[in-house]
Parts: sequence; C-alpha cells; structure tokens
Amino acid sequence: MFKIAVIPGDGIGTEVTSQAIRILKKASQILNEPLEFTELKAGGIAIDTFGKPLPEETLKAALASDAVLLGAVGGPKWDSLPYELKPEQALLGLRKGLELYANIRPAIMFDALVSASSLKSEVVKGIDIVVVRELTGGIYFGRPAGIFEENGTRRGVNTMTYTVPEIERIAHTAFRLAKTRKNKVTSVDKANILHTSMLWREVVNEIHKKDYPDVQLDHMYVDNASMQLVRNPKHFDVILTENMFGDILSDEASMLTGSIGMLPSASIGETHALYEPVHGSAPDIAGKGLANPIASILSAAMLLEYSLKQKELARKIFRAVEGVLGEGCRTADIASAGQNVLSTEEMGRRIENAL
Ligand code: IPM
Ligand code: MG
Repeated sequence: MFKIAVIPGDGIGTEVTSQAIRILKKASQILNEPLEFTELKAGGIAIDTFGKPLPEETLKAALASDAVLLGAVGGPKWDSLPYELKPEQALLGLRKGLELYANIRPAIMFDALVSASSLKSEVVKGIDIVVVRELTGGIYFGRPAGIFEENGTRRGVNTMTYTVPEIERIAHTAFRLAKTRKNKVTSVDKANILHTSMLWREVVNEIHKKDYPDVQLDHMYVDNASMQLVRNPKHFDVILTENMFGDILSDEASMLTGSIGMLPSASIGETHALYEPVHGSAPDIAGKGLANPIASILSAAMLLEYSLKQKELARKIFRAVEGVLGEGCRTADIASAGQNVLSTEEMGRRIENAL
C-alpha cells in the first residue's frame, strides 16, 4: 500500500490540497492501486496546536510515508514569532529531516495563459524550463549562523558552504533530468567571486565529463542568468544551481509564465520525497474558495511521476489541466475581464472530469 502523508498547512494550503487529493483518488482508481492518506500538522496550525512548527510526530510520520503532499505554511499571525518558531521552519526541518536535497521546479508556459506574462508573448510562448535547486546545503544551513554581539556591536552571520558529495549528487539529478528533456544543462554559480561556486563549477565539469558527455552543458554567473531569463528564457532547459540562487531564480522563472500560482514542485532525496505548490498560503484569500488548485494538482501529478513512476498518468493530468484552461475555465487569479470564474472546488472537479 502506497502511503501518502498529507500536510495541508495554513491558509489556502488546506483548500488546494483537498483538490489535489481528489485527483489522487481518481488516479488510484485509474491505476487500480490503493493509496493511503494520513493527515499531519505542520506550520502555523502546528504552532497553535503543539507549540512548534514541526512536531516530532509529523516528522516521524513523514519519514514513515512513501511521499509527502504539502499545501503551504505561514501567515501574518505567526510572523512575529522568534526564528525557531516561525512556520517556515517546518519547511526547512522537513527538507533536512527527509534529506530532500533536490528541489525540482518546472516553469511551464500554458498556451492559454500567454497573455498573463508581463513579457512579450513571442519571448515567452512555449517556455519549458526546470530549475534544479540544491535544497539542503549552502547558506540556508551553513554554520556559524546567527546574530552575535561582539564588543557591543551586533553582527549577523550566515555561512555558505558546499562539500563535493553535495554538489555531485545534485549535478547527477540535473544531468539525468536533462536526458529526459532537451538534453541541456545550464549550471548557475558565482565562480568569479565565491569559493563555494569555484568548487561547484569544478565538480559539475567533472561529473559532466565522466558520466554525461553527451549532455550539452554551459555555465553562467547568477547575475547574468537572472538577466538572460528575462531576455531570452528559451535559452534554458535545465538550470542547475545552489540553494539561495535557486530560491531567487525559481521565482523569476515561474513569474515569466505569468502563473506562479499554477506551478508545482518536487523535493526529492535518496529515500523520501515531498511535493508542494510553489505558491504560499495566501492568507488574504484563505477560506473563500478563491484559490487556484492547479499548482497543488500538478504537484500531485509530479508525485505520481516521480514516486509512483506513473509518467503517463502524470502527463494525462497535465493535459487535463491544459484542456480545462483551453475551454476557458479560470479561477479568479488567472481570469481576465468577462471570464467566468470558478471556485477552488469547481476547478478541481472540472479537472477530475477531464481526466
Ligand atoms: C521557497 C521559499 C522558502 C525558501 C522559504 C519559505 C523558507 O521561499 O520554498 O522557495 O526560501 O526556500
Ligand atoms: Mg522561494
């Protein structure tokens, strides 16, 4: 029995996740494969219930599952809590605890939404980029880190650090993924200035030469990459990069498509995987049935593809989404004037029917 730990989290997280579960239940019927769902608490709701963002029981149950489906965590209610108690710590704790070192963030342009991009349609039409972001190293987790006081002066410190094995494993992820796509990796670093990046570039080149000589590889400094993403996004197929650069570039890449609210992600390790929409908990629209469930539904599709190896069914879900968008179905966030607006649940149902 395939066990899915469900962490709806806060805000619209609960609403969009229930639509993703609707699709997974349908998938379970289609595949004739039973799926078991266990609901867990993390984020603000866990702070309210247990006094901490990532309770041990949640991490333990997530470790015991075959895959985790997460909604979103956070909200203004918890913003002023101290660092260790913020809802975001649940995400960092899950990433580290499940060793989810590879964050895969596709930025796909849906034809029906080309006009939603802030860039010219000829620049963005057909965009299909995947950012492969290292997720458990770099400046997010390096020590020392903190705010320290020395001789009466406060100093904030973070440490960017990477080991060779950390770079190797994420490089393998990117090259393997590229082989299933347009066979091209752009490795993004700051090797003209950062030591971590110099090592990064060296290791990526070695792995490329040794195991993937047939994959096209280029290197780009992160400042240039952020420019090229808006100048000529179709240059990119797979972007391989470290944690913080990936955080920034994946937001940029997803916004090119005009639909950051529609994009899924997968965070994968050797033995665990977590799937979640790229968007946050959107407290301003929570509880109103306005949220767009597509990012969560496509995250469920990624779960089927990567954890259950059901690539064909994942493609079908993607096409079902494209289909309903093509028919003009819109939630409020992507509707233009005069278009009929569906609720979160209606959108979920339409996609289920299209399957
Ligand atoms: C993301 C988010 C997180 C990150 C935050 C919420 C900790 O921005 O998943 O991209 O920086 O990784
Ligand atoms: Mg981010």
